[in-house]
Amino acid sequence: MEFREVMARRHSVRSFTPEPVPDAVLKDLLATAVTAPSWSNTQPYQFAIARGDVLESLRTELPRRFDRVAELQRAPMLKKALVWATRDGLPDGDFQPVHQYPSDLQPRRAATGYGLYEMLGIDRKDFKARHEQMAENFRFFGAPVTLFLFVHEGLGVYSVLDAGIFLQSFMLAATDRGLGTCAQGALALWRSPLEKHFTIPARYKLLCGISIGYPSDHRINDFQPEKLGVDALTIPERS
Ligand SMILES: Cc1cc2nc3c(=O)[nH]c(=O)nc-3n(C[C@H](O)[C@H](O)[C@H](O)COP(=O)(O)O)c2cc1C
Repeated sequence: MEFREVMARRHSVRSFTPEPVPDAVLKDLLATAVTAPSWSNTQPYQFAIARGDVLESLRTELPRRFDRVAELQRAPMLKKALVWATRDGLPDGDFQPVHQYPSDLQPRRAATGYGLYEMLGIDRKDFKARHEQMAENFRFFGAPVTLFLFVHEGLGVYSVLDAGIFLQSFMLAATDRGLGTCAQGALALWRSPLEKHFTIPARYKLLCGISIGYPSDHRINDFQPEKLGVDALTIPERS
């Protein structure tokens, strides 16, 4: 594909077919993505590739954890206190999730979220349906492969910046091969389930997941939220 076409076609895919991604294709995409630039060429990130039995095990465990946390939010105070005390099953990711969005960004976030629900016919107040849709994150939207991306703690924001460049390079390479991807911050909520399957260096912190596979024809994959244009993002000169 032409570069502009790849850029235009890449969008978040949230429903995949079970068709496997051939190992050779995945390797090729990764080999392309690791050519991305990085701070002093340090490449301060690593990824774990979950597929087959490992992915299926996570596809069972993570939705359970997600349901449990949602249940806990509605539980009586005493039960909440007990779980908080033991931290049993609670999110144990390396980075704090964003609970409160800055007031200037919140409307953009809301427009995207509500746009998605509207397209799926989910009422904003239907919290059960919203929960179910959110839970799909933890089933990797049916994808046959998910990468978990980790960043070296020693470079602060710069390793996150480099991982972002890797992420977009990977997603574009996948688009070019007719594959779909979804970057998933939601998959950074729990680190401990990954530790069971991978020996993750302690200095590498879980940033996000990226599900990859062949897009299904579900209408959710037609969702393309509006982007701000160049003007809205340009800081004007002082007059
Ligand atoms: C770092 C990052 C984390 C994201 N986390 C999630 C996620 O947890 N779940 C999800 O459905 N989409 C997630 N997305 C996808 C964004 O919602 C999506 O990129 C945005 O709405 C723009 O849509 P587009 O990717 O189709 O252009 C994430 C994207 C990025 C870059």
